[in-house]
Formats: sequence, C-alpha cells, structure tokens
Amino acid sequence: MCGIVGYIGSRRVVPIIIEGLKRLAYRGYDSAGLVYLDNGHLTKHRAAGKLSNLAEIMEEINADSRMGLGHTRWATHGSPTEDNAHPHSDCKGELAIVHNGIIENYHSLRRDLIKRGHIFTSETDTEVLAHLIEENLAGDLAAAVRLAVKQVEGSFALGVIWAAQPDQLVAVRHQSPLVLGVKEGSGHFMASDIPALLPYTNRVIFLEDGDLAVLQRDSCHISRLTDAGAVERPWQEISWNTSMAEKGGYRHFMLKEIFEQPQAVLNTFRGRFEPETGTVDLPEIGLSSAEIKAVKRISLVACGTSWHAALVAKYWLEKWAAIPVDVDIASEFRYRRLLLDENSLVIPISQSGETADTLAGMRLARTMGAKITAICNVVGTTVTREADGTIYTHAGPEIGVASTKAFTCQLTALFLLTLYLGQVRGTISQEESRSLGNVMLELPAILEAEMPRLQRDIEPIVAKFINCRDFLYLGRGVNFPIALEGALKLKEISYIHAEGYAAGELKHGPIALIDQEMPVLALAPRDGVYAKVISNVEEVKARNGRLILVGSTGDDNLARIAEHVIQLPEIHEDLNPILYAIPLQLLAYGIANARGCDVDQPRNLAKSVTVE
Ligand code: AGP
Repeated sequence: MCGIVGYIGSRRVVPIIIEGLKRLAYRGYDSAGLVYLDNGHLTKHRAAGKLSNLAEIMEEINADSRMGLGHTRWATHGSPTEDNAHPHSDCKGELAIVHNGIIENYHSLRRDLIKRGHIFTSETDTEVLAHLIEENLAGDLAAAVRLAVKQVEGSFALGVIWAAQPDQLVAVRHQSPLVLGVKEGSGHFMASDIPALLPYTNRVIFLEDGDLAVLQRDSCHISRLTDAGAVERPWQEISWNTSMAEKGGYRHFMLKEIFEQPQAVLNTFRGRFEPETGTVDLPEIGLSSAEIKAVKRISLVACGTSWHAALVAKYWLEKWAAIPVDVDIASEFRYRRLLLDENSLVIPISQSGETADTLAGMRLARTMGAKITAICNVVGTTVTREADGTIYTHAGPEIGVASTKAFTCQLTALFLLTLYLGQVRGTISQEESRSLGNVMLELPAILEAEMPRLQRDIEPIVAKFINCRDFLYLGRGVNFPIALEGALKLKEISYIHAEGYAAGELKHGPIALIDQEMPVLALAPRDGVYAKVISNVEEVKARNGRLILVGSTGDDNLARIAEHVIQLPEIHEDLNPILYAIPLQLLAYGIANARGCDVDQPRNLAKSVTVE
C-alpha cells in the first residue's frame, strides 16, 4: 500500500517527510515524491525506485518550508515511474494531492475531465482527483475537496495542499487508513500509519471513514465529507515502539497480512464487478472478445502457493467457462512437450512477478504463439511486462515469506476471470454471474466477522499438536488444493513435515501412516462430495487416527467423528477455497509462533525465488 506523510508547523518539513516515508517503507513501494510550499508556490520533487533516490535529491536542496506532503507509491494503476509518482497536481500546478487507495471510476472521470480541457501528465487514477478539486476551487480548499470526492467511487486516504491557502493541509479518510498527530508548539502531522509519527509524537487521532480534517500549525478541525460541522475525535496516546507499529500491533507481518485479507479481497474485486447486473469488466486482460472466443485450451502455470491457486481455478474455469484447463508446476511445464498454439491461453500466476520458473514457462509459451494473461500482485514486474495483459491482485505488499493475502486475492482474481470468460463465451448466464459475484462480494464481511473466532478456535489445536512430527491434510474436489496449501503453510513456517492429499487417495497409500502421532486434518464442508469425505475420515477414525475436521457450522456429524472441529459459515461451495484457507493459515501461524519459529523469514526460504 502507499505511504502518506504530511506536516504543517514550526519545523522544516522536508526532513520530517523523508524520515516519515522511511518509516513507512515496510508497506512496500516503487517510487516516492514530496511537495512543499516555497515562497507562495508549490515545489514538487519525485523519483522512481528507492526512497534514497528522493532523499539524495533533497540533500541538494536546502528547503526551508514548514508545510508539505510526501508519498511512497505502491503502483496499482500505471507503472512505477517518476511521472506516475505522487504528488499529482492540477493543470496550473497550484494544488497538490497524495493518495492511498483505488479510484474505481477513474476511467470515466478522466475521460470527462479531458473533454473539459484538463491536461493529464500521468497514468494514475489519483490525478483525476487533482483536476476535480481544481474544478471546484472557489476560495476554500476543504469545500472543493468535499465536492470533488462526491464524484469518486472507491477507497481514498488523501492529503491536499493549495498554494492559495498556505496555512492549511486537508486530510481525508475514506476506506483507507489515515492518522493525525500533534506536538504542542511544533505542529500537526498526518500519515498513513503510526510509525511515521513516532519520532515526533505519540498523541494521535485515527480518522474515521468519511472524516475530513483541516490541519493548521496550531489547530486541527475535523468534520465530515457530508457535513462541514465539527466532530469530536479524541487524541489517543500510543505506546507502541516502531517495530510493533510497522506491524500494526501484530506480532508478525504474516499475522497482519492474514487479517488484511477481507480488505485485500474486496480491493481485488471492487470496480471489476457490477452487483446489479453481474457484469465483470476486465479491460486489463489484454485479449479481445474474438481472441477469448478462439481460445481452445488454457494452461495455468505457477509455483508453490500460486500453483495451488491454479489448481482451484481449474475447477472454476472448466465448470463455468467450459474451457479445458491444464495446470502445471512451472518447473515441470518447461520440460515436457507442450502442444500450444495461437489458440492457447497461458496464465502465469505469481505474487512477486519475478519467479524464475514461471517466467521461463511463459517465455517458452510465447515462442509457441500462445496468448498470455498474467495474475500478479506487483505492478511493473517482469511477468507483467512480458504478458499481453495482467489482472492485478490488489493485496498490497506481502512482506511475510509465507503467502496468505496474495493467495486469497489470486483466487479472487481467478474467479473474476472465470466469470468474465464465461460471459464473453456465453457459457454462464447473467443470473449465474450475478449470483456468484455477489457471493464473492459478501465474502470480505464474512471473513472479517469469522477471523477473530477462528483464531481462538485454533488455540487448543495448536497446544495439542505443537510437537507433532507429521501432519496429513485431506480435501476433495475444489478443496483438494486447499489441503495442499494448508500443508505447505505448516511445513514452510513451522518445519513440521506436512502432506496434502486428495481424500479419495487415502486408501491408496497414506492410510498406512495413520497412527496416534500424526494428526489428520480434513476439509469437510457440506458440498457435493461431503458424504465421500466423511466416509474417508471414518476410515481414519476406525484406525484411531487423530482427526481435525473443518466443516460447516451446525453440522453435528463432525463432532461425532473428530477430536477437534473448526466450523465455518456455509456459502456457495465453489467459493469455499477462499474461506477454508483462512483457518489453515491461522493454524500454521499458531503452531509456528508457539514453536518460536521465524514466522516472517523462515529458514532457507526467499519471498521471491528468482533463481531456478
Ligand atoms: C508460498 O507461501 C511460498 N512462499 C512459495 O511457495 C511461493 O508461493 C512461490 O515461491 C511462488 O511465488 P510467486 O507467487 O511470487 O511466483
């Protein structure tokens, strides 16, 4: 996610901005910029790449300004270039804005603004806001911001300054975090997250969605976007240290990222699905409707957790888009005889966008004439540059080596792609698409509601099995890949050997392993293969196996069979993989944390495997 820092007060603003952005760097970024008031004019400096590039520029400039804004950009719309770096300005360069979030309707807003004569200098969604505010300026910046954001759909945390009102910063929060700080006698601060404020103050206000704050050197006036009347927001004392603050108070980035999934899934879905009509819009796919209709076969190519996402997508694509799908581990894909041609669609799936095996696979596919649409979480990476189109997951930067929110966002993006291909090829009705899409849209709220309870339900299982040496995960159908994913999560962060298996394969070998030492976790939602899974796990119970069942709330059958039961709400069975991944992530985290493992940086592992 992007990082915002703003200050107005008695101190020089540039050092405060640079230091604040450094403390937000953990959020992930690929360019940076700042703007400050300088003798009645706004002066802007931006740089692609690392923050040090911007800091070096500023070392040469001895700016004496006491008011300004800074930003580290995590690219979502437009590559990570200097021109796309924030702040962005109006046509006259008299106002500047920094933004964290996604403007869903920026295409239409940009089109209309250009028709009205506005000149754009970037590819970003953010710049539309600068021109909308410009259009509404009539002597009061806050009023202009209020009018401008009325036209915007999406999520935005904003910092805005205007040369004509040199004594104030405007801050807005709408579905993207923003926190204010105050230091008596020094001034007021704004930032995306607490770490940027800690060197100066621990007195903060967490703005609420829909709040607009006007910060001056000695005052802070908070109102609502919908009503200029003052609202009270209490100043709070924060006792976190910087490390705790970077993780939002969580012990590890992985746990923070597990709990970020509701918002990340929503961010990946929003703006791409129309709830009333069920229509999915994926202009970034890089394929024409004719090319989509001509696709005869899809090849999903990935590694690790991304490969598990591909395995789930096979079920969806074949069921709803009626296209034959091959799924390959990228390191295998490269070494078998590939029967690809111009009617093949190859979909590399990669969180990092730099995985060597996945890159090699897509390059090989390219030589055979295949079309390539990537699923990726990092804008501007090699996978995205070499694909015909990229459907980005808006998970935000994933710091923990073990992939969690990127995985559920990959599933979200793949589900959207399934609906889209089905619509274009006429294999899914509008009602089916509307119904399935709305189930997807309800998922973030379900995840938000269930996760705290799930974390508590996991605790006794962690305590009981913390020292086991082997774990077996079972799943069937669309949940079989989730059994694989649960096993991967556990083994890579706790170092306990764990295997994921198709439940129906139990009697073809693994049942020989069943004993009191090896817990067996099975995914048993009430779906089309429920009875089969229950008969499989009965075989485990009959041999005194240690059973953990993850299944549907209210299914009393589970407790009859299992030593531990984790229950989840019932949703459309096709979407269970996203829901059922969560308790497995929490179980792996709980056991690894209890074992004192380095959860965020497990031994021998890298976040991006850029070598073969
Ligand atoms: C997942 O938890 C692992 N860190 C690993 O399997 C990862 O999914 C794999 O290396 C693929 O990475 P990518 O998605 O960045 O290509």
